[in-house]
Amino acid sequence: MNATTATPVASHSKATAVFVCILAALAGLMFGLDIGVISGAQQFIQKEFAVSDETIGLIVSIMMVGAAAGALIAGWLSGHLGRKRSLILGAVLFVAGSLLCSVAWTPDVLIAGRLVLGVAIGLASFTAPLYLAEIAPESIRGAMISLYQLMITIGILVAFLSDTAFSYSGNWRWMLGVIAIPGALFLLGVVFLPYSPRWLMMRGRKPEAEHVLHKLRGSLDTIQKEIADIEEQLKTPQRGIHMFFQNSNFRRSVYLGVLLQVMQQLTGMNVVMYYAPRIFQGMGYDTASQMWFTAVVGLVNVLATFIAIGLVDRLGRKPILYVGFVVMAIGLGVVGTMMHLGIHTHAQQFFTVGMLLIFIVGFAMSAGPLIWTLCSEIQPLKGRDFGIGCSTLTNWVANAIVGWSFLPLLNSIGDAKTFWLYAAFNVVFIGLTLWLVPETKGVTLEQIERNLMAGKPLRRIGQ
Ligand code: BGC
Repeated sequence: MNATTATPVASHSKATAVFVCILAALAGLMFGLDIGVISGAQQFIQKEFAVSDETIGLIVSIMMVGAAAGALIAGWLSGHLGRKRSLILGAVLFVAGSLLCSVAWTPDVLIAGRLVLGVAIGLASFTAPLYLAEIAPESIRGAMISLYQLMITIGILVAFLSDTAFSYSGNWRWMLGVIAIPGALFLLGVVFLPYSPRWLMMRGRKPEAEHVLHKLRGSLDTIQKEIADIEEQLKTPQRGIHMFFQNSNFRRSVYLGVLLQVMQQLTGMNVVMYYAPRIFQGMGYDTASQMWFTAVVGLVNVLATFIAIGLVDRLGRKPILYVGFVVMAIGLGVVGTMMHLGIHTHAQQFFTVGMLLIFIVGFAMSAGPLIWTLCSEIQPLKGRDFGIGCSTLTNWVANAIVGWSFLPLLNSIGDAKTFWLYAAFNVVFIGLTLWLVPETKGVTLEQIERNLMAGKPLRRIGQ
C-alpha cells in the first residue's frame, strides 16, 4: 500500500466508518465523566459520611488504581475476547459501578464502586483507541482518534456542569449515579459495532474480516490490499510479552509509548482537572467564581480539541506537538511567575486565569489527543495489545502520581515553583519530541511497522 498518500474511500463506506468510530469514541465520554465528576462531589460525600481527608483521597484515587488494573488486563482480554467484547464488558462495569456509587450505604461500598468504575475506564481507555486505529481508514485516522479525546473533554465538561447543577441540592448520589444513563446508551450502541477486521484475521476468520472491511472501505481494491498487508504481518510468529523479550525493535516502540504517556501526564494537565477550584482559590476568587471558572476550563478544553481534530491529518503530529508544548510552557511559566510576584488586583487575577486557559488550549490542541493517537499508531500488529496496554497503564500510573503529589508539592516548594516545575517539563518535552517522536501523518500502520522492525530510528519510522 502506498505509504505516503491517503487511500480514497467510497463516501458511504466512509460514513459507516465514521459512525462506528463515533460510537466507539463514546468510550471517551465515560472516561471524561469519571475524571470530572469527583471534584464537585467530594465535599458533599465528606459531609454525609463524616470521613477524613485521607478517606476522600482514597475515594478519589482508587479509580485510577482500578483503571491501571483494567488497562493491565485489557491487553489480554482484547486479544482473546476481541475488541468489541472488551468494550461491552467495559460498558457493563461502567453502569454497574455508577449505580453502586449512587446507592453506596457506607464509604467502603463507595470505594468498591469507584474501583469497579476504574476497571471499566481502564478497559475502555485501552480498547477504544486500539479499535479506532484498526477501523478508521488512514486518511482520517488521526482525526478519528482525536474524536476520542474530544469525547473525553466533553465528558469532563458535562461532569463539571452536572456537579454544579446538583451542588445546589448537595445531592452527590445523583452526581455519581446520573452517569449510568450515558453508560447504558453506550452499552446499547456498542452491541451493534462490527468486530475489528484485524482481530478477525488474527483469529483466522478471513471471510468475516473481508465482510467487515467491505462495509467500512467500499472499494474492492483497498480491501484486498489491506487484507494482504495484515496477512503479511501475521506471518511473524511472535506476540506480546514474548515479543517484548525477544525483539529489541518492539521494545523500542513499547518504551516510546510509555514515554509518550509520561510526557502527557507531566504536562500538568490533570493538576488543573482535579484541583482547578483550589487553584482559583489561590488566586483570590470566591467559591462561586471558582465553580464558574472551572466550568470555563472544561469548555475551553472541549473547544481547543477541535483545533487538533482540524489540523492533525493536515499539519501532522509533530508540528502540533511542538506548538502545544511551547504554549503550555509559556502558560504555566507565567502563571508561576504571577504567583511568585503576588496576585493583588482584578487585572492580575484575570491575566493569570487567562494564562491558565492558554495552558489548557496548549494541551487540548496537542498532547491531549495526539499522545493517544501516536500510542495506537506506533505498535506493530502482533504486539499492539501488549504495547498499548503498557502505555495506557503508564497513563493511569502517571496520572495517579500527578494527582497525589500536587498538594504535597504545593506545601513543600510553594505554588510558584510547582507551576515552574511543570513548565520546565514542557520545555524538556520539546526536545524529546524532536529526538524521538515519529511523524505518522498519512502513513499506513503496516508501513510504520515495517520501518520499526527494520531498525530505523524511532523518529523516522513514519517515513
Ligand atoms: C488525558 C487525561 C486528561 C484529559 C483532559 C486525556 O488525554 O489522558 O489524563 O484528564 O486528557 O482532557
